Amino acid sequence: MDDFTAAAAAFPDPFRLLVREEAVSTNDETTKLAVAGAPEGLVLLAMRQTGGRGRRGAAWFAPAGQSLAFSILLRPAAPKVLWPRLALAAGLAVAEAMEDFGLSPGIKWPNDIWLGGRKAAGVLVEAGADFAVVGIGINVNATEFPEALADVATSMQLAAAREIALPEALGGVTRHFALRSRQIGADFPELIGAIRERCVLRGQRVSLLTAGGALHGMVEDIADGGELLLRSHDRLHRILQADEVRILDR
Ligand code: BTN
Repeated sequence: MDDFTAAAAAFPDPFRLLVREEAVSTNDETTKLAVAGAPEGLVLLAMRQTGGRGRRGAAWFAPAGQSLAFSILLRPAAPKVLWPRLALAAGLAVAEAMEDFGLSPGIKWPNDIWLGGRKAAGVLVEAGADFAVVGIGINVNATEFPEALADVATSMQLAAAREIALPEALGGVTRHFALRSRQIGADFPELIGAIRERCVLRGQRVSLLTAGGALHGMVEDIADGGELLLRSHDRLHRILQADEVRILDR
């Protein structure tokens, strides 16, 4: 089993690691601890996740020993309306940690992390009354995927053509997230600037599903507030949240 002790010892304040052999979902487990009063900074890592959840209620594939499934507990001082920005902060932190391994990730708004045109990591943020749980799943060393994911998923190992140390990857994400999670307030345009540089959607024709219905058009940019700017016919839509962003013409 990987030894996370050294990586955890190097976590910046207030982050600290709690390892569970098994959890149904690290987001659920962290939520329970948050409700019971756990202070912010808890990073709960499951060696095996038996019911990991993705966005839109999908199951999350995280093979034991080859992937990272963890959740970070925060009690942000920023107004709650800004907490969804933590998902962008987490996606960027994962991308930056991958770059430390020499990889060139892209960010598919809002927070999928791609390597070579396939998804390698995802983020699921859930909020309670006075806390936020930032769940992160990374395909680190997986080399085989279930049939349904075979054409759309990849891993850091496949992109780097070498095995990646799980503790080092966890340490890198935590270090970058410590900085980026502080930028959801006044410094948000700086965070968005870093996402723009890595955005795989700019200039692409996409279809997506918003609360107001289906839309398709050309992605012009990401606004300073984190919204996707989509040109559809003659209108510029500012999209705050969307499901199922699909790149057309691929
Ligand atoms: C997505 O659909 O892209 C989000 C995937 C998030 C998966 C992670 S794994 C750790 C944490 N626990 C969960 O149940 N989900 C998140």
